[in-house]
Amino acid sequence: MPPIIQIQNLTKKFGNLAAVDHLDLEIEEGEIFGLLGPNGAGKTTAILMLATVIKPTEGTALVGGFDIRKSPDKVRGLLGIAFQEPKMLWVATPWDVVNWHAKVCGLSTEERKRRVKQVLETVDMWEPRHKNVHALSGGMRKRVEMAKVLIQRPKIAIVDEPTTQIDVVGKHKIWNMLLELRDEGSTIILATNELYEADRLSDRVGIMHRGKLLVCDTPKTLKDSILGGDIIDIQLEKDASPTIVEELKSFKEVVDIMQVKPTNLRLYLNRVEEVVPQIMNLLMKKNVPVNSIRMSEPSLDDVFAHYTGLTIEEAQKDEG
Ligand SMILES: Nc1ncnc2c1ncn2[C@@H]1O[C@H](COP(=O)(O)OP(=O)(O)OP(=O)(O)O)[C@@H](O)[C@H]1O
Ligand SMILES: [Mg+2]
Repeated sequence: MPPIIQIQNLTKKFGNLAAVDHLDLEIEEGEIFGLLGPNGAGKTTAILMLATVIKPTEGTALVGGFDIRKSPDKVRGLLGIAFQEPKMLWVATPWDVVNWHAKVCGLSTEERKRRVKQVLETVDMWEPRHKNVHALSGGMRKRVEMAKVLIQRPKIAIVDEPTTQIDVVGKHKIWNMLLELRDEGSTIILATNELYEADRLSDRVGIMHRGKLLVCDTPKTLKDSILGGDIIDIQLEKDASPTIVEELKSFKEVVDIMQVKPTNLRLYLNRVEEVVPQIMNLLMKKNVPVNSIRMSEPSLDDVFAHYTGLTIEEAQKDEG
């Protein structure tokens, strides 16, 4: 199957600034693709071009086989989008917004009635459904924006920072909804600057920085690509002998060992989940009793730092 989205040399300039800079990217049908990057990376600009809201300066993209420049109407027919900053000035209440959207998507009166209620309940907006949209909080507005995508069940859903301003319980609900939507067959592009969100939801992640795509792969591969990025702390009952330290060093996955205390070893290694059983075996065979062992994996934060040379906080300061 050809990729459902093929982005080719896509570029958007605002004056001298290349907000999106010759972007090439393919998105597979049925995946959640996380577009990760700090403020100003170009995520929203890229998304708005895909959604045919703004025109590229250069390059193009094929969405479901349709060129965003030549067939914007066809492209729009495949998409549902939840904007980073929802504008809902033309209708009065959450119920109106979602009901109107359901109408546009061609739901029958009966189905509309049922689904509007169901979707508003899912995003916890059934109770305040008759509130004026101007009186909604930022988080409530984001929930209504998500409801539009949920009622549409589009072939391709684009969600731009879907959980900013949303409380923890709401975040988990929205994450589950996005996973369900994917499982029902939608392809999802998720723009976010939350590393945890990208890691948790995405089948693949692309890291954007200053309009360019730095790297793109599964979260796991990205994390594994950092040499010695896994850490295990082993606390032994007795002091570690130099021989045992040497034997541990001989595992090819072990990049470095630090003897934090005479009894405590910290191992920097790759593919921790495969190596730990072997390490435990070795220690048992050599009669070295272990008090405790603790593992930690690198996060996408480490991946981001690795590829940009910045932590995401620094990158945000840098842009701001
Ligand atoms: N209409 C515009 N006119 C001029 N510059 C713009 C415009 N829209 C975006 N930019 C600039 O383009 C760059 C990319 O912005 P964009 O909104 O795409 O970033 P983003 O990755 O979505 O960031 P965020 O995480 O803050 O949402 C920024 O430097 C921004 O100031
Ligand atoms: Mg944005």
